[in-house]
Amino acid sequence: MEVIIKKDYSDMCDEAVRLIHQTWQKGENLVLGLATGKTPLGVYDRLIRLHREQQMDFSDVLAFSLDEYLGLPDNHSQSFVFYMQQNFYQHINIKEENIFHLRGLPDHIETHCREYETKIQEVGGIDIQILGIGENGHIGFNEPSSSLSSRTRVKTLTQETIAANAHFFHHQDEIPRYCLTMGIGTIMESRMILLLASGEEKSAAIQQSIEGPITASVPASILQLHPQAKFIIDEEAASKLARKSYYKWVYEHKDKVDDFLAKKRKRTD
Ligand code: F6R
Repeated sequence: MEVIIKKDYSDMCDEAVRLIHQTWQKGENLVLGLATGKTPLGVYDRLIRLHREQQMDFSDVLAFSLDEYLGLPDNHSQSFVFYMQQNFYQHINIKEENIFHLRGLPDHIETHCREYETKIQEVGGIDIQILGIGENGHIGFNEPSSSLSSRTRVKTLTQETIAANAHFFHHQDEIPRYCLTMGIGTIMESRMILLLASGEEKSAAIQQSIEGPITASVPASILQLHPQAKFIIDEEAASKLARKSYYKWVYEHKDKVDDFLAKKRKRTD
């Protein structure tokens, strides 16, 4: 696990995009896992800009959605299929056949979830999973108390989420009560995980996830076990961290390890 603290939202998104671009440059078919919500929007905007201005090519990139509301058709303005299309896919040259969504109206829920997991395996696993975090520490739709080894499955939304969503829908019976989400076990199999958080309202969840015990009560705390999980957060989201200055110091000095060793070697030659 690595903690990267950036000045503000913009710097935070720049850092996430730098890491994605760096991995993409290695030339392999990049497999992305992608979250919705407000936090990753800056990352998608920057990737679109890289595509337009620096010809970043997405034709070999594969993308998997992290979650979806159950019961919404793809073209519903609140579906995550719609969100990804509007905010990212329609602006880049990703191939239709390389986009994988969890669907709001699957024929058979369990089969759909199982096939999604199989597809992730078939393409060799997710290289970079982008995550946001809920104020209660959730990742994807894995709310507190979700099994830390869960796989893609149906979940019941919390009453708070149902209430918070209500104003996005015209009719009461349209408001989603269930969702599909990659499981915590599924997310943990990604080679690299970039969890992004911005703003004071995320600071308690960030502190508990990074410095608290690993517990199903704070699902993001499981990332402490992942060797390539990076919390990329802004100053406000980092404001409750007890070891904030240490994380900053480590990050600022990590590229200097090679210099340090080179100097040592010269002295002992
Ligand atoms: C979105 C998702 C959620 C969000 C989280 C933060 O696909 O799975 O876990 O990442 O609720 O949402 P924002 O970024 O809107 O604060």
